[in-house]
Amino acid sequence: MAEISYNEDLQPNLRGRAVVLTGGAQGIGAATVRMFQTAGAHVIFGDWAADKGRSLEAELTSGQSAEAGNVHFQQLDVRDYSSQVALFDLAHQKYGCVDVAVSCAAVGEPGGWFEPKVLDLESVRKEPLPIKNAIDINLTSVISFCRIALAYMSHDITSQPNGGMLRRDHEDTFSKSIVLVSSIAGITEAPGLFAYSSAKHGVIGMMRALRPWAPTRYNVRANAICPWATDTQLLAGVRERWVEEKLPMNQPEDVAKMILQSAADSNMNGKAIFVTGGRGFDTEEGYDRTLPQWMGEQNARMFSKGQEILGLGDDWT
Ligand SMILES: NC(=O)c1ccc[n+]([C@@H]2O[C@H](COP(=O)([O-])OP(=O)(O)OC[C@H]3O[C@@H](n4cnc5c(N)ncnc54)[C@H](O)[C@@H]3O)[C@@H](O)[C@H]2O)c1
Repeated sequence: MAEISYNEDLQPNLRGRAVVLTGGAQGIGAATVRMFQTAGAHVIFGDWAADKGRSLEAELTSGQSAEAGNVHFQQLDVRDYSSQVALFDLAHQKYGCVDVAVSCAAVGEPGGWFEPKVLDLESVRKEPLPIKNAIDINLTSVISFCRIALAYMSHDITSQPNGGMLRRDHEDTFSKSIVLVSSIAGITEAPGLFAYSSAKHGVIGMMRALRPWAPTRYNVRANAICPWATDTQLLAGVRERWVEEKLPMNQPEDVAKMILQSAADSNMNGKAIFVTGGRGFDTEEGYDRTLPQWMGEQNARMFSKGQEILGLGDDWT
């Protein structure tokens, strides 16, 4: 299994970088904002929870060390395309570039779609709306995020007046990247998480679509982070049992480290990092390597040929 370790030595790569992040007001997103700032990156983060976002910004900007980066909060609802554009605009206004883009905002299972427990001909007549919201937040907005990120990441405004604020070390080796936060529920079966799991599988699909294409077309890498149980409010419903059974539990900082690692390591592209008990493992490596086993050798050979014909998709989609 391919373990991914957090490498302190790569973190100076992040110094002076402009990072855009959604869902940063609490939990994993907030831990990631803090960690990027400590690494000397400038973080422009958005969240629909304005009070929490502003208070995190206030906390991180008061008495920050000289080595730390700047932090800016802007309220956004990821379902609103133009408010995502506005977040990237803010990064361009402040720093003239976007180097790292992290999509972290999400909501849990909305419920009401496959309940009451036994669906009947009466309950099924009415379409419950919350599921559309959840898919919009957890998947559609992620696709929008990637689209917007690619445009901004490939259009640095080098002549903007405060460009001098950016201090970049290791300029020669750094490459820009998108980091998408999926979930273990984006890789495996997840009973009861009908909408959440569908969306998170979709996020892995988006990362895989970007993997061969974005580095070639935009010089941008893409990776996904797939946390298992992480101690945030999203886990509240099952936390007690989890602790009782002594199952592995991440702290938000453990997941944040994998996000920073994906951003800092210019060789990392196309990985889906399963994070469990504070450790990270690339699940794509095994998935790709064992293709002939689960698809069948003959099928795998034909499939690889088909993939070559499909190429980057430009000629036929
Ligand atoms: N906690 C876990 O066990 C776990 C496991 C797997 C994956 N994840 C993923 O990690 C990421 C972070 O989750 P978390 O555990 O920190 O949960 P969290 O609820 O603490 O954080 C999610 C953040 O997203 C924000 N958000 C939600 N909808 C939004 C919207 N429409 N617009 C803007 N902001 C919005 C929330 O306000 C919140 O700040 C999510 O993508 C989640 O699916 C978490």
